[in-house]
Amino acid sequence: MRPIGVFDSGVGGLTVVAALRRRLPRESIVYLGDTARLPYGTKSAATVARYTASNVEFLLDRDVRAVVVACNTASALALDTLEAPVPLWGVVEPGADLAARTSRGRVGIVATESTIASGAYSRALLARRDDLEIVAQSCPLFVPLVEEGWCDDPITRQIAERYLEPLLAAEIDTLVLGCTHYPLLAPLLQEIVGPEIRLVDSAEAVAEVVARELEPEAASGSPGVAAHRLFVTDGAARFERLADWILGERGTPLELVDVASAERR
Ligand code: DGL
Repeated sequence: MRPIGVFDSGVGGLTVVAALRRRLPRESIVYLGDTARLPYGTKSAATVARYTASNVEFLLDRDVRAVVVACNTASALALDTLEAPVPLWGVVEPGADLAARTSRGRVGIVATESTIASGAYSRALLARRDDLEIVAQSCPLFVPLVEEGWCDDPITRQIAERYLEPLLAAEIDTLVLGCTHYPLLAPLLQEIVGPEIRLVDSAEAVAEVVARELEPEAASGSPGVAAHRLFVTDGAARFERLADWILGERGTPLELVDVASAERR
């Protein structure tokens, strides 16, 4: 069976891979982390669209039979600009869908600056339920804190409390984690907001949709052993450390590629 392709601006999208592996353990996954061009979360829509197109092209060249845009920023800013000859999913719609189905009326969204500025999550939520009250908050310090491994640290807690203050004041009942890195902060964020507020993990939400749509095909295919490949555009040691942690394994082998040079201009 041909593999599923997943890409993110970096390591965070492996939260989607981990969620996919749990649901589709026999599927092979080709992952691309565009570490050389990270962060996407502070860049313009035009730049993110250009990076996204080259990442999808790279995955299609690896003969994937479906593509998951695991990066929230790329999903929010560039999904509409993509054309692919295979099924393609972003994380915004599944995340918004889950939140709209389960919220009691007040939804908070946390994401990168570019994702919040795009308004993509708010639009997707209101398209499903126009009665929702939405409070959006960009949290630019979260990505570097997670990359530093400070997911359960007093400094991170203090920063998170500050970011979440307006959302708690607005009495949200649901909090959408609209960035690949934020699920890694989920235990800390849940502690801060308390047990009554439901956290919606867009990585889990997209994995659920992909598994539902690909499962019949996977079940009818010949049983095989999943063979995963992890590509990165910059071979930082930090990626390996975080990859092992997110995937719960040691010595994840990484392959270095140059996606930018293959970019169509
Ligand atoms: N992957 C990005 C996202 O989900 C976060 C990291 C970045 O800014 O590139 O929005």
